[in-house]
Amino acid sequence: MNNGFWRPPLYRRIHLSVAKFSGEYEMQDPKSEDEVVNIVYIDKDGKEIKVRGKVGDNALYLAHRYDIEMEGACEASLACTTCHCYVLDDYFDKLPDPEEKEEDLLDMAPFLKENSRLGCQIKLTKELEGMKLQLPKATRNFYVDGHKPKPH
Ligand code: FES
Repeated sequence: MNNGFWRPPLYRRIHLSVAKFSGEYEMQDPKSEDEVVNIVYIDKDGKEIKVRGKVGDNALYLAHRYDIEMEGACEASLACTTCHCYVLDDYFDKLPDPEEKEEDLLDMAPFLKENSRLGCQIKLTKELEGMKLQLPKATRNFYVDGHKPKPH
């Protein structure tokens, strides 16, 4: 029963609620110095952008806050590779291991390297203070470009 009001179909409502919360946390400034995690993004042209993040920030949404070109076409749902980045130096080893889905996607990412990760799967912790994330020369959204990944 809808009392005469139009309601979007269920899948649409779920999508809207996900979108509403995506990146809201990252829009908030750190509440204290204890929370601060400074990181550096390096864009496609090699320009360094220093960002004052905080514990718990998602590296994709934090990049969006500061207009850094990490695309994130699937809104962190592990269905694209447009948030591909390189984790420089020994910070790569400080990250938790990627789950299988992330590894499968990375296998399809253009310009894959040993230190590749998906930015939307990186959550900031105090241990990551000073981390540098470099964007690859290009990313490709294979769903939009028409490529269908084959099952393994
Ligand atoms: S935004 Fe699509 S996998 Fe990260």
